[in-house]
Amino acid sequence: MCGIVGYVGKEQAAPILLDGLSKLEYRGYDSAGMAVYDGEKIVINKSTGRLKVLSELTHDGENMPGHIGIGHTRWATHGEPTETNAHPHFNESKTIAVVHNGIIENYLKLKNLLIERGYQFVSDTDTEVVAHLLDYYYKKYDKDPLTAVVKVIHRVEGSYALGIIFADYPDVVYSVRKDSPLIVGKAKEGNLIASDVPAVLKYTRDVYFIENEEIARLTEDTIEFFNVDGEPIQKQSKHIDWDINAAEKNGYEHFMLKEIYEQPKAVRDTISPRIKDGKIIIEELGMTDEEIRSIKKIHIVACGSAYHTGVTNKYIFEGLARIPVEVDLASEFRYRNPIFEEGALVIIISQSGETADSLAALRLAKEKGVKTLGIVNVVGSSIAREADKVMYTWAGPEIAVATTKAYSCQLVAQYLLALKFAQVRGQITDEQLKEYLHEIEMLPNQIEILLGNKERIQKFANRYVAAKDVFFIGRGIDYAISLEGSLKLKEISYIHSEAYAAGELKHGTISLIEDGTLVTAVVTQEELYKKTISNIVEVKTRGAYVLAVTNDDNLDIEKTADSVIYIPKTNAYFTNSLAIIPLQLFAYYVSVGKGLDVDKPRNLAKSVTVE
Ligand code: M6R
Repeated sequence: MCGIVGYVGKEQAAPILLDGLSKLEYRGYDSAGMAVYDGEKIVINKSTGRLKVLSELTHDGENMPGHIGIGHTRWATHGEPTETNAHPHFNESKTIAVVHNGIIENYLKLKNLLIERGYQFVSDTDTEVVAHLLDYYYKKYDKDPLTAVVKVIHRVEGSYALGIIFADYPDVVYSVRKDSPLIVGKAKEGNLIASDVPAVLKYTRDVYFIENEEIARLTEDTIEFFNVDGEPIQKQSKHIDWDINAAEKNGYEHFMLKEIYEQPKAVRDTISPRIKDGKIIIEELGMTDEEIRSIKKIHIVACGSAYHTGVTNKYIFEGLARIPVEVDLASEFRYRNPIFEEGALVIIISQSGETADSLAALRLAKEKGVKTLGIVNVVGSSIAREADKVMYTWAGPEIAVATTKAYSCQLVAQYLLALKFAQVRGQITDEQLKEYLHEIEMLPNQIEILLGNKERIQKFANRYVAAKDVFFIGRGIDYAISLEGSLKLKEISYIHSEAYAAGELKHGTISLIEDGTLVTAVVTQEELYKKTISNIVEVKTRGAYVLAVTNDDNLDIEKTADSVIYIPKTNAYFTNSLAIIPLQLFAYYVSVGKGLDVDKPRNLAKSVTVE
């Protein structure tokens, strides 16, 4: 994880680096640092804690003069989050400084070799190996920085996006990547590198997406690219037309709340361009009807919340399109030697498009010659670029670590895909398709209605800020909703929470229920209503306090549950899009009530670019 930035140009570098890092803090926030060439030497400032500590230390960058520099915000992998382990890292003579996002897997071997050659290490990081290795090759190859970079990338294994400056070349930033994201921005007053587009949007909308093992060399007014052997290559820049305000809080207390409230728009933006005259048009799918009919099996592969959308949509692909679906966590899928049959389609779902395990799963499927489709939010991200086809979710930039709007868009993108497959394969009539689409088109307004009910959920959440354990139960799609409700709560409130298939409770978990334990029962699937009611009774008998989330015509439930949140009626396949809203708000208000950092929960990062 971690975020890197770099700048060379007419302006003072440090404030620009800090500004860029502030847009990348979602990638890691346990320490931060900057290296700037001050006209005589490279100066490094770093600090543990949030970026604001570094801003204070450097007076918003003002007390770091110089027009070239690199910066880093860290999510620790190798070495604790201390000042020494924070980036940038120097070589011994402090003439080369490096920032790194990724993991150097063979760092121990390299470290031992370097120690044998007399190099002394000061940190516990894998990155310091890169600084010393650069020093070694720089000296060996006539102080030629490009050759040193080329030699280093031939020696290191693992993932990296590196920003490098050399004191001997005080007007050049070098950068290179493998399996960690990297972009180069071309601005009027100078050029930039960054882990992600929002970090450069204030200065430019013209960016280059750097591919694996490509090297970038930036000066104030030139940008050159080289391949892994140091030979010049040409690249085309892309113009980014995102709304810059989308990455600001716009008056909301937290990004998470803002993003929860953006869901009606995000869902609408994801579905509307794909529904025309009662038909589903997904041009980017690039599949003929014949190809759609020949799909024999779908593998949905993802991590975290994205995986939960797959768990929901298994029911929909199977129920409507009658295509067998396997849903896998990417970290399991990539190592379980999956069997791909003729006619398999692998769908990788990812907000960031950079999740290391999801990317590896995608590459595995491609290696085996299986067709791949990415459902991705970040335009131009690695998964978007490497998948055979990409269907974008139009959620816009999502900053809070806990996903909300991207999750909702992943759900509806898959609904459309499942319906498209169902219709082409003759499993539903045009009339049925129209009805389903009508229900889907109502979702944004129904989400708005649910968002109007936040005060009641806030009050309820305030009662549970001291909870020790919270359980979420449900059957079928309600179980999938429970998985997400539980993850939302635990990741931002630090309250232990588990989601259970309601029928599975009595096989062990029910022993954890005590007097007053909060059990949230999701009961939106009419066919399973009575079964889940029985499970509610079981936990209530053991002392649980039950909050039910159910359809607005299930008034009966008040006889059994202690509290009820009603959701507007929709088709049973699409209830996740509505039932998740109060659960997101519940998690949000518990976290706020506990005074926690909602947007940046401890130990987490938005984009998990390491295994
Ligand atoms: O960027 P991705 O969608 O690939 O990320 C997957 C998970 O890391 C992500 O959904 C994570 O579980 C969120 N923090 C959940 O809120």
